[in-house]
Amino acid sequence: MKAYILENKHRFLAELMELLRIPSVSADPKYKDSVLMTAEFVKKSLEEAGVKHTEICPTKGYPIVYGEHIIDPNKPTVLVYGHYDVQPPDPLDLWTSPPFEPVIKDDKIYARGACDDKGQMFMHIKAFEAMIKKELLTCNVKFMIEGEEEVGSAHLGEFIINNKQKLKADIILISDTAMIANDVPSIDTGLRGLSYIEVEVIGPNRDLHSGVYGGAVANPINVLCEMIASLKDKDRKITIPGFYEDVQELSLDERELLAAAPFDLTEYKKDLGIVSVDGEAHFTTPERASIRPTLDVNGIWGGYIGEGAKTVLPSKAYAKISMRLVPNQKSEKITRLFKEHFEKMAPKSVEVKVRPHHGGEPVVTPTDSIGYQAAFNAMKQAFGKDPVPTRGGGSIPIVALFEKELGLKSILMGFGLDTDAIHSPNEHFGVFNFLKGIETITYFYQHYYEMSTKAKA
Ligand code: BES
Ligand code: MN
Ligand code: MN
Repeated sequence: MKAYILENKHRFLAELMELLRIPSVSADPKYKDSVLMTAEFVKKSLEEAGVKHTEICPTKGYPIVYGEHIIDPNKPTVLVYGHYDVQPPDPLDLWTSPPFEPVIKDDKIYARGACDDKGQMFMHIKAFEAMIKKELLTCNVKFMIEGEEEVGSAHLGEFIINNKQKLKADIILISDTAMIANDVPSIDTGLRGLSYIEVEVIGPNRDLHSGVYGGAVANPINVLCEMIASLKDKDRKITIPGFYEDVQELSLDERELLAAAPFDLTEYKKDLGIVSVDGEAHFTTPERASIRPTLDVNGIWGGYIGEGAKTVLPSKAYAKISMRLVPNQKSEKITRLFKEHFEKMAPKSVEVKVRPHHGGEPVVTPTDSIGYQAAFNAMKQAFGKDPVPTRGGGSIPIVALFEKELGLKSILMGFGLDTDAIHSPNEHFGVFNFLKGIETITYFYQHYYEMSTKAKA
């Protein structure tokens, strides 16, 4: 298997670069044709890899690329999930090479989507190709590659509810997360949920002269800042009443187990160019970024932001706020608690509007399942080391829905690194990670087949 991957390395990379060249930004309608072209590209890649049946399944939004390769109905079936859409590339001027003109520098592929998730999704297609060519495919495989993950997977839920039979499988395999380091393999055993909200604070009926009216009329930006600041106390605890009600507190044993994963605070700060970290009191940095809920402003605007100075008391102020959720918080409840609290605390001098965006539920994966154990063995075989269980801080909202609607657990076997700059300028993915990922995935199928068959007997 290793030999096949090595022999075909240059072609694999060239094909991935071709995929990365299509700007499949799902958030911005101006990229619509490109997003659709990307779906076609993925379908063609599945066909060329040898997937027997492929189709493009339309939705009310961007289509889902589906592939199915049944070798024997009695053998286990792996459902691969990934996404072909990417985040907007902005801010463009901070990229050292254009986001949709992929280049390999220092053994890393630089492009929007290189890691999240085109590069990682493509590993699965190439692993499939390798297994077909070497006649080593041991499981049935289904592919479900969507084009709306970065905008909340709005239509995937309906698709899985309407296609339960088609998607019947034994396990879901996803590479859309990170591992600790190239010499510290890890597997995510959970993801955070998400509650995303936009707020609007409305003051006077027009922008005002900040000298004529300033001091006498509420400034919506000032008010918004005060309101946001009050959402956390000095211990960085979130002050929304009921916010922590359902938070699953980890036992000291569980926290110790997670703390076994190596973490270098000095390196962490250096990579981010910060002098000090900041977060909820009594928790470590890795804990703050995985097993604890958060509240962050993602963007804030209003008033005059053009060149020079304009003396103006703005009529309106806006912010986009995200809350990352942990088991057993529910995104709907948190969104409601936020809305009630935010509306209640607004001073009489302004009007407040709260608009919920997408949300998603947190997930945890058991480590005693065959799927997890197969991923563990595959990583161990590929990296020569036991992988460490970790909890991911990001969100893949659809994973909770897979569990609810299909009754299937997902294995989060990701090969990115936190430093790959996903969603940031200069996103990249290591050539080592891409090739190692392909290799590991092929081992996963082998182990999963062997362990499932043993468990059945
Ligand atoms: N692949 C990421 C999620 C991720 C990244 C999980 C790193 C764990 C580690 C995914 O594409 C993503 O960005 N998800 C969004 C949520 C979505 C609703 C926009 C996120 O986490 O912000
Ligand atoms: Mn992703
Ligand atoms: Mn993403």
